[in-house]
Amino acid sequence: MCGIVGYIGTKNSVPILIDGLKRLEYRGYDSAGVGIINSGESILVKNKGKVSLLEERLADLNLSSPLGIGHTRWATHGIPNEQNAHPHTNQDGNLFVIHNGIIENFQSLKRGLIKLGYNFKSDTDTEVLAHLIDSFLSKDYPLSKAVQMALNEVDGAYGLAAIYAKEPDKIIAARKGSPLVIGVGEGENFIASDVSAILAHTKKVIYLDDGELAIITRENHTVKTIADKEIEKEIHEINMSLDEIDKGGYPHFMLKEIMEQPESVSNSMRGRLLVDEGTAKLGGLTDVLDRLVNSKRIIISACGTSWHAALVGEYMMEQYARIPVEVEYASELRYRNPIITGDDSVIFISQSGETADTLAALKEAKSKGALILGICNVVGSTIARESQAGVYIHAGPEIGVASTKAFTSQLVVLALITLLISRRKGMSLADGKAVVEELIKIPDKIKLILKMNDEIERLANEFKDAKNFLYLGRGYNFPVALEGALKLKEISYIHAEGYPAAEMKHGPIALIDEDMPVVFVAPKGATYDKILSNIEEVRARGGRIIAVGDEKDDELDNLADYTLKIPETIEMFTPILTSIPLQLLAYHIAVNKGLNVDQPRNLAKSVTVE
Ligand code: G6P
Repeated sequence: MCGIVGYIGTKNSVPILIDGLKRLEYRGYDSAGVGIINSGESILVKNKGKVSLLEERLADLNLSSPLGIGHTRWATHGIPNEQNAHPHTNQDGNLFVIHNGIIENFQSLKRGLIKLGYNFKSDTDTEVLAHLIDSFLSKDYPLSKAVQMALNEVDGAYGLAAIYAKEPDKIIAARKGSPLVIGVGEGENFIASDVSAILAHTKKVIYLDDGELAIITRENHTVKTIADKEIEKEIHEINMSLDEIDKGGYPHFMLKEIMEQPESVSNSMRGRLLVDEGTAKLGGLTDVLDRLVNSKRIIISACGTSWHAALVGEYMMEQYARIPVEVEYASELRYRNPIITGDDSVIFISQSGETADTLAALKEAKSKGALILGICNVVGSTIARESQAGVYIHAGPEIGVASTKAFTSQLVVLALITLLISRRKGMSLADGKAVVEELIKIPDKIKLILKMNDEIERLANEFKDAKNFLYLGRGYNFPVALEGALKLKEISYIHAEGYPAAEMKHGPIALIDEDMPVVFVAPKGATYDKILSNIEEVRARGGRIIAVGDEKDDELDNLADYTLKIPETIEMFTPILTSIPLQLLAYHIAVNKGLNVDQPRNLAKSVTVE
């Protein structure tokens, strides 16, 4: 939520900030702004709406400055408008502050500052920071000290940056709970919410940790704790190219990411399969494997699409590893004083590795002594670093707000973990080999599914005006029904519900008539015959049926109005295949409706507020 970027060097910061903000727009796009300082003069430009609007305004102004900070907002406190856009300033307008997170005690701080004579222009929590820092600057503290003293009075979460016209040689950045990286250049330095914003300029980054403050000049950076202890930070080399974060000729990131799945899924398993031994090799788990295998219980916790992947993981692990698995929304796990012990392993799944609810649940589970594992996509993200061990999904950067390739890669990694544990717990070599051999075939099977793109586009055209959709599945494909419904509602704004197919008769069946499209996720498997009966029940009530099923399943063709066929695979891998036609269906419906699929209203890709 909210993207922040900053530059100090010798070049003009304005295009660097705009480019960085465009790459961070997935974090929020309610408003955008930049604050620049040039020869002691401070200039602020901000507006409601997207970065492209800000870019147009800046082009007219023709500004130049070697020091600046920029922000793209996902509104929490205060509606999306120009006053509430960042940067926020002090009364003199010579201090700029940008912030990602929530200052929880902002009301009481605001009351105190108003008593001291400060006037507020916005409804945001962030403006409090600007005036609070100013209250220390006015007592002649230098900017770094003023920020530090202000942060000592603040409760809540922040990734922030501040620049001050009277000290035009530095950016001050600080982090608690919201991600922040320093990009280290030659004679120039950067700050950003994530590396994608600065990758065009440097591949050397320092990840700030919670409770740290950085003083960044053109040539140098110093990092200390908010409590003023200087610390040595490691410089990480980013192994990602700019091409990977561009659209690569596709009209939307979402389509590019759907189409990338043969490669992203291959990358998730690359170097991790031992074919002859019928097992997986996961370096990140080596040190904790005995403890994981001997867990009395595994809890998997996540939010959104990652939570749907967790549900599939439950089916995989209980079927093969025979360890009891519970799946919890991170936001619920955190606040109910969960019973977790040292005998449990808790796996947190997060594409971004920054989701605030997931991180809070992780800290809660850690405090109770469980083994903490992370399954993340973003390398070096907070959840990855806070976990005791883990596995990266290596899906590559996912920019579209609706998660697609991260989901299928999460499923691959969950399958690898399941295989590893199961082989240690007595799964036969032959069975292990069968799983490995089938997993290797999955990328080619995805390629075949992607060939249905045109067909799915035509189908989408037919259904784009539906007001409601029902998605039904059983067993491994019940979570796929949930995920299919989520994809549709988040980008097309059509109300969609996912349900276990058998539960339909306990309520949703009342909704079915000729205007209700029902998507059945029905590949062959343990519950296949049962789901055919559910399809009959919908047919009997006039519902229009789209079914996703196996390529050789003629019976499904007879029952459904439309069928989308996937190649056969073993049941545990069916969600990887069945989810893809549903991603394409949601995508084409939203595009057909003329909606912005990469940046759906009200959503953000990385939700760093609880
Ligand atoms: C947001 C995104 C979803 C994502 C969820 C969890 O809601 O829009 O696509 O599934 O957060 O994110 P995470 O990064 O933790 O997987």
